[in-house]
Amino acid sequence: LGGSRLAFAQAARPQSAGAAGPHRVIIDTDPGVDDAFALLLAMRSPELKIEGITPVAGNVPLELTLPNALRMVEIANRPDIPVAVGARAPLMRRLVTATYAHGENGLGGAVFPEPKLKPIAESAAVFIRRIVRKYPGEVTVITLGPQTNLATALASDPELAGMIKGVTMMGGSLSGGNVTPAAEFNVYVDPEASRMVFQSGIPVTMVGLDVTRKTALTDAHVKILETAGTAVSLAAAKIARNDIDLNRRQGNSSGPNMHDSLALASFLDPSLLTWKDYYVDVETQGELTAGETLGYRPSESGLRGSAPTLAGTKTSVMLRDKFTPNAKVAVDVNSARFFDLLIGRLAGKA
Ligand code: BDR
Ligand code: CA
Repeated sequence: LGGSRLAFAQAARPQSAGAAGPHRVIIDTDPGVDDAFALLLAMRSPELKIEGITPVAGNVPLELTLPNALRMVEIANRPDIPVAVGARAPLMRRLVTATYAHGENGLGGAVFPEPKLKPIAESAAVFIRRIVRKYPGEVTVITLGPQTNLATALASDPELAGMIKGVTMMGGSLSGGNVTPAAEFNVYVDPEASRMVFQSGIPVTMVGLDVTRKTALTDAHVKILETAGTAVSLAAAKIARNDIDLNRRQGNSSGPNMHDSLALASFLDPSLLTWKDYYVDVETQGELTAGETLGYRPSESGLRGSAPTLAGTKTSVMLRDKFTPNAKVAVDVNSARFFDLLIGRLAGKA
């Protein structure tokens, strides 16, 4: 860790928009119902200078996440924001999608016209690299899907990690998964990419299932959005209505969870959440546990890496690093305040 990185590790607060602004962000996303809400929230937030949006394959294939992202940009009337096409598949694995949660079209079954906006010619990884190099130390990458695009950019340019201000991610969990007992969806889909991000030295702010599972969208929220009657609020309400119905048909009594919108909101107002410093690493070898995120606290000195195998004497790198924190992890959330922010901004007049 360099000087400024160490300062992050010791600071009380995670990456955030803070007082001065607007703040340069790139939003990497796989829309996705909660991604769509996060994108609309971002585009209604004056604290952000959105340098670009980079769709990736995840909840649904890229053929759908790309037009879904373009649709949100159109609905928010923000054609000034470039959209750069991301990866079709994870770094080293076959794509697994989540249509059970987001519907076949990724928007809970809510249908919108084909977007007229087009993506830019640059790929997402090239775009991320160019923008970060243009504004060294200024850009926060907010990842709301599998981290394939960011990992590809980092792999293409060894100096890039040192120029990224921070990564705020929805992903991971220190309290069990939602796809396997161990893994959260975004990290499960591309564990190798997430491992690269956590080991890159970039200050990471992790908003995982530990907190996002405590956020459920309700019929009352949807009514507020419908009553507001703006283009953004009505689109959000339509997606929400469809996804709440889908969620009920799946037999869930509450939800859907607003995972990605909470991660985005955490950048706008970190006081919505409670934070702890962890050294986080990602399991990539596990036959049953690939994509699990493990959190080590310096104070928990009894913790160790895995036992050496008969084939080698080395334990994992955690012992070498002595658990030096690389992430601020959200451990609790004020869900009511979060929804005040989310629904308030989506229902606000343009
Ligand atoms: C994450 O996975 C996706 O299904 C959601 O969009 C969110 O990013 C939650 O595990
Ligand atoms: Ca997502």
